Amino acid sequence: MILGITGQNHDASMALIDGQNILWAAHSERYTRLKNDPLLNLDMVKELYEYGSPSQIVWFEKPWPKNIRRLWSGERPWHKSPKEELKRVGLGNIPIEYVWHHESHAAAGYYTSKFDSADIVVIDAIGEWDTVSYWKGLGSSIKKQWSKKYPNSIGLFYTAFTHYLGLKPNEEEYILMGMAALGKPKYINEMLDFFFVDWNPPSLKLRYNLHQGCRWWDRPQDATDYDIAATVQAIYELYIVALLTDITLWKPVDKNLVLMGGCALNCVANSKIAKLGIYENIWIMPNPGDAGSAIGAVAAITNQHLNWQSPYLGTDIARPLDIESIVSDLMNGKVVAVANGRAEFGPRALGNRSLLCDPRGPNAKDRMNALKKREAFRPFAPAVLKEYATDYFDMPVESAPYMQFVADCTRPDLLPGICHYDNTSRVQTVTKEDNLVFRQLLEAWYDRSGCPILINTSLNIKGEPLVNSWQDAERWQNKYGVTVY
Ligand SMILES: [Fe+2]
Repeated sequence: MILGITGQNHDASMALIDGQNILWAAHSERYTRLKNDPLLNLDMVKELYEYGSPSQIVWFEKPWPKNIRRLWSGERPWHKSPKEELKRVGLGNIPIEYVWHHESHAAAGYYTSKFDSADIVVIDAIGEWDTVSYWKGLGSSIKKQWSKKYPNSIGLFYTAFTHYLGLKPNEEEYILMGMAALGKPKYINEMLDFFFVDWNPPSLKLRYNLHQGCRWWDRPQDATDYDIAATVQAIYELYIVALLTDITLWKPVDKNLVLMGGCALNCVANSKIAKLGIYENIWIMPNPGDAGSAIGAVAAITNQHLNWQSPYLGTDIARPLDIESIVSDLMNGKVVAVANGRAEFGPRALGNRSLLCDPRGPNAKDRMNALKKREAFRPFAPAVLKEYATDYFDMPVESAPYMQFVADCTRPDLLPGICHYDNTSRVQTVTKEDNLVFRQLLEAWYDRSGCPILINTSLNIKGEPLVNSWQDAERWQNKYGVTVY
């Protein structure tokens, strides 16, 4: 058994893999209750040993190149090595190997896909030095074709503006993406001229090292935060569309695309990619950021496809779910919490650690927001019985079990709580193969209500990690007065 680890970054995680089977995978934050915890912890290691004893560890990036780059960019290097970090949590006696950051991303994507060949694109802020990389997957191997190096990074540009708008960098980029729908991309030329020496995607050369932020940008006087967000989002979309168009010049173009790295969480851009129609099939592993690289680090050295079943890979809450009572509560207009089965490995709650409510009517969003304490402009995501998805949404892809794409909602009059300002929704389609118990719950709701959709949002309050164990669930229930099933 091999243990893949990401750590000393912005979201530590572990994954235990036996041959082609992913036995367990989890985020550190879910145990310590510290959002995006960069460090490992003893509770997570204790749970690891319930699933097996690893004989080998693979770390998701190379510490020396990373530390040299951190010094070069004016950041402090990590004062502890990965070996010291592992020793601290009782894993110091297991042999360790290191792989490159973008290789972990590419391997996590390709080896969890069903593809036997693919174009693989990785985009994030920064690993060791690579910021954008393009790979070819063929059979059981992946091979890097080219990469773009730090400080030239479209992801870092996006993260710098996340900070500029008063949001948390490396965590709240999704809020910037949400803000973009409320603004107009008015400042594309101004921003390109100011920040880029060379804007000719996929070639790109930044004028500044954006690790130091972008506060010196000469902001137009009438610019709203929403217009700035819209401009940043538009520039990212221009980049990725140009990148994929350029890749089509690299013959032969594959019919399959694997997209990975933190930027692959940008579901608005993902939908634009799907609509381009360059690729027949797109796979984005449901945890495409650094945490998912715990799986990718192992796959990068085993070089074989993994038996991907689902993202339900974490802590198990094994208890029967009282679907009848849940549906009765939903019919009475209540918000219902579900903590059941294995926790999601990835940032999205997909039915096992979820808050649910009726999406119909003008008050659905307010009812949920009274509890969640999120920004009022942000909509909630819908989970829909897959066969009814096209009745309500213009889907850019056939199925979306992991909420990775936005779709135009064709009935915003019925469902205002799940529609953003541009009438899009981040849809989760649900089949029994995706999640049997959640599917049964949705079917029971449909039978009683005639509506095949529920609002599905994460079982947490803004800024908290997802509820993980049943003990967390009970604490949550007592604190917020919502029944957890
Ligand atoms: Fe990354």
